[in-house]
Amino acid sequence: MLNMLKLISGELLKIKTDCLVVPVCEDVEIHDDPAIAALVESARKIKEFKGKTDDSLLFYDSSGSGFSRILFAGLGKHKKSNAESLRRLAGKCVHQAINKNLSEIVFCAPSPAKLDLTHESILTAIFEGAFLGNHVFDKYKKEKSENPLKTISVFTDAEAAKAWRHLPPRVETICKGTLLAREWVSMPSNEKQPDRLVRSMVKAAEKEDLSFSILDEKSLKQNGMGAILAVGAGSRSKPRLLILDYNPFKNKKAPKTRKIVVLVGKGVTFDSGGINLKPPASLDDMKMDMSGAASVAAILITLSRLKHRFRVVGVIPVVENMPSGEAVRPGDIIKTYSGKTVEIGNTDAEGRLILADAMSYAVKMFKPDVLIDLATLTGACVVALGEKIAGVFSTEERLAKAIVKAGDAVGEICWPMPLFDDYKKLLKSEFADINNMSSTRWGGAITAALFLSEFVERTPWAHIDIAGPAYSKKADDYCGPGGTGFGVRLLIDFLNKME
Ligand code: BES
Ligand code: MG
Ligand code: ZN
Repeated sequence: MLNMLKLISGELLKIKTDCLVVPVCEDVEIHDDPAIAALVESARKIKEFKGKTDDSLLFYDSSGSGFSRILFAGLGKHKKSNAESLRRLAGKCVHQAINKNLSEIVFCAPSPAKLDLTHESILTAIFEGAFLGNHVFDKYKKEKSENPLKTISVFTDAEAAKAWRHLPPRVETICKGTLLAREWVSMPSNEKQPDRLVRSMVKAAEKEDLSFSILDEKSLKQNGMGAILAVGAGSRSKPRLLILDYNPFKNKKAPKTRKIVVLVGKGVTFDSGGINLKPPASLDDMKMDMSGAASVAAILITLSRLKHRFRVVGVIPVVENMPSGEAVRPGDIIKTYSGKTVEIGNTDAEGRLILADAMSYAVKMFKPDVLIDLATLTGACVVALGEKIAGVFSTEERLAKAIVKAGDAVGEICWPMPLFDDYKKLLKSEFADINNMSSTRWGGAITAALFLSEFVERTPWAHIDIAGPAYSKKADDYCGPGGTGFGVRLLIDFLNKME
């Protein structure tokens, strides 16, 4: 059911809608349609409306036109306007419409020539911001106070509407992936123990053309996944490893040059820290520590819906990190799937442990051309880059660049971070091959990434630390409070552009 987003054209004054949105720049006119330009003229006469970012002006129209409201929305200076400002504008307008309990909205698309953007990016951005901003997570509330809109339309000229008619369902499919990830992340930990979360992911995957397999506790033992088992040992809910396989050549003869990408996602359904129990404030929101897993599962489901060109596999370790009499202790030495032994310096550095097993499994079983892991790995990365930006670590400069570029395109910002080899000595252990904890607290995001690098052999690999942007306590312009679904639009764009 992909019918929420619509691209329309025709005569402006004949449009029937509860709310017509007209984006306005503070310095220049950005609409070609003379009928829209005339509306903007009238809005500019109102002193308090300048067209600045966040400015808005609502007119009620009783003159008999097809629209009962016109919402002028400020886009700021035209030189500074980009896809992200359009996404934000669209999200804010949808919010206003929801607050007025409307059921649909129509956006007037600005002209590409005036904004130095393409038709494609303008239409995509408005659709994305509006669709993502229309998501309300109220599953656990009896009283539903916000009702999402049922239809979101963008009005453009006839030529563009025809040329880009395939765009709305595609954007809707991709953004639905983001919402799927958001819902899993926002779900409370008492509803998503490893087995339950995996079953919920499989249920969604089964509806698509995805193959899957699940390693339960017994098969994790048989496979020697000592790291995943160690992290899961303290919880009554036992760990799982989920593999989701999207293979467009499944029943066909595969081309010789077939490429394979593996995505690994950290799935800690609750991170208490384990025996190294976190202090109270840090326990807040640790239900979000499976955001990497949520995004990877949502990406695979979305790739299948989009009929992506090449094979992509998701390898998703899912555990709960809890303290108990059975929990792994600081000082314990465990054996990973790779054969390397790890001394547990800190049970709260659990993400790198489960990823180590998952990544060496991925390398051995699938021999990927590219391996990417998504993980809410370190508080240190949030200290370095803040809550909106993910850190990208890669053995290949080209890979890191491509990820950063995809992030810029979709508004999921990634910043390159160094895999500084010299810091590897900070992970030395007296008794095992490596320690999961650095001997210093400085550079924690880097030492965590260096730990992971020990488990990828020579596979071209990138690690994306999403500890900051995966979750937000507060609502933003096109995302409510809770999980953000960060990584879904990013990696879909990356995979789409991949040679
Ligand atoms: N899940 C946390 C990282 C995290 C912190 C995610 C804040 C989101 C917000 C991770 O498992 C963790 O506990 N990391 C420790 C590592 C330390 C013990 C070496 C940290 O960042 O403090
Ligand atoms: Mg931890
Ligand atoms: Zn964690």
